[in-house]
Amino acid sequence: MVPSYKRGETAPVLVRGQGTRVWDADGKEYLDFGGGIAVNCLGHSHPALVRALQEQSSQLIHVSNLFFHPKQAELAEELVQRTGPGKVFFCNSGAEANEAMVKAARKAGAAQGRFEVITTLNSFHGRTLGMIAASGQERLREGFGPGMPGFVHVSYNDLAIVEKAIGPKTIAVMVEGIQGEGGVIPATAEYLLGLRKLTRDKGIFLLMDSVQCGHYRTGCFQSYEKILREAGGKELFLPDAVSMAKSLGAGFPIGAVWFGEGLMDALAPGSHGTTYGGTALACAVALEVLRIIEEEKLAENVAVRGEDLKQGLAKLTGRGWVGEVRGFGGMVGLTVKGRPHAEVAGQLAAAGLLVVPAGSDVLRFLPPYNVSKQEVAEALRKVETTL
Ligand SMILES: Cc1ncc(COP(=O)(O)O)c(C=O)c1O
Repeated sequence: MVPSYKRGETAPVLVRGQGTRVWDADGKEYLDFGGGIAVNCLGHSHPALVRALQEQSSQLIHVSNLFFHPKQAELAEELVQRTGPGKVFFCNSGAEANEAMVKAARKAGAAQGRFEVITTLNSFHGRTLGMIAASGQERLREGFGPGMPGFVHVSYNDLAIVEKAIGPKTIAVMVEGIQGEGGVIPATAEYLLGLRKLTRDKGIFLLMDSVQCGHYRTGCFQSYEKILREAGGKELFLPDAVSMAKSLGAGFPIGAVWFGEGLMDALAPGSHGTTYGGTALACAVALEVLRIIEEEKLAENVAVRGEDLKQGLAKLTGRGWVGEVRGFGGMVGLTVKGRPHAEVAGQLAAAGLLVVPAGSDVLRFLPPYNVSKQEVAEALRKVETTL
C-alpha cells in the first residue's frame, strides 16, 4: 500500500467491531470514539443495518444511472423532506459531493462569467484536485503542481471579510457548519445568518459542506439547525446546496448533494455523473440508517450523550494536557496543551480509547449516535487514566 496515511508503528490492526467497540488482531478491546472519522453513526455491525445490506444485496446491488430504481427516489425524497424543496444528486464520497456542488454553482454562473467560489481558511473539502484547491489549507496542495483556479480563501466566522472578497466573478460561498478537520470550530449563528443575507443580496449561492457535521451528528439533521436553534431555528436559514457523505451511509460509501430551487436544475443531462452514484445497495443502506436513527431516537441520544461528554471533559480542563472543549453531540473537540496531539491520541489508544486528531492541537471525539451513558463515562475514565 502507498504510504499516504500516517499510521504509527503502534497503530492497531482492527479486525472486528460491535456497537461502540472494536478489537484488534491481538484481541485488545477499544472504545471507538473515532467512528471511522465521523462515519459510523450507528456504531459497528448494527443488526438492522446488516440485515438491510443482506436483503438488498440479494435483490439488486447496482444498475446504471441510465435507469431508475426505487431506492434512489425514496432516499432523495427523505433528504428533500428533511432539508427543503429541491432535488438530490448521488455520488460516493464527500469530495465528490463537494465537486458536484461547486460544478453546479459554476454551471449556473457560466452565462454571467461567474465561477469563483469563496471558501474559508482552515477548511477541508476533500482530496481531489478541485477540492484541495477549494480547501483553505496550503499543505494539501504542496507538490501537486498548478492549482485549479477559481477559489478564494478568507477567515472563518468573519462576515465582513467575505463581503470584501465578493467580486464580479464570484458565484458562491462554501463553508462547513462546523470546521471538522480544522479542529471542531462551529460557525456562529450571526455568521450563518449574515452569510445567507449577504449571498442572497449579491445574487450568489451559499453552499454548505455538511459532509462531517451533518446527518444528525450534532443532534440535528444539519449543524446549522443546531447552531441556529436559539436564534429561531432552520426556518431562518435555507442554503442553496448541502453536501453529505460520511454518516449518510454509516460506513457504506455514499455521498449526496441536496440542491435548492436556484441550483436544482443546473446539472442538466450529460453535464455530470458517476457510475456508482446512488446504487440500489447504497441507497437501501442510507434509508435504513435514517429509519434506525428515527426508530431508536438517536438524534436525541447523541445530543444528550454529547453534553455528558463535554461536561466530563470540561471538568478535566486545566489538568495536564487538557485544554478547551467545543462542539456538539457526536462531534466534540478537545484542545491539547503542551504536547503533540497525535502523541496524546496514541496514548489514549494504548489505554483503549480511539479518538481522531484534527487541526494542529485538537482531539476529536466522534462517538456513534447510539453511544450509551456508561460508554461515555468509560471514555472519560480512560482520558483520566491517561492524564
Ligand atoms: C467537511 C468535509 N468535507 C469533505 C470531506 C471529504 O470527504 P471524503 O473523504 O469522503 O471524500 C471531509 C472528510 O473528512 C470533510 O470532513
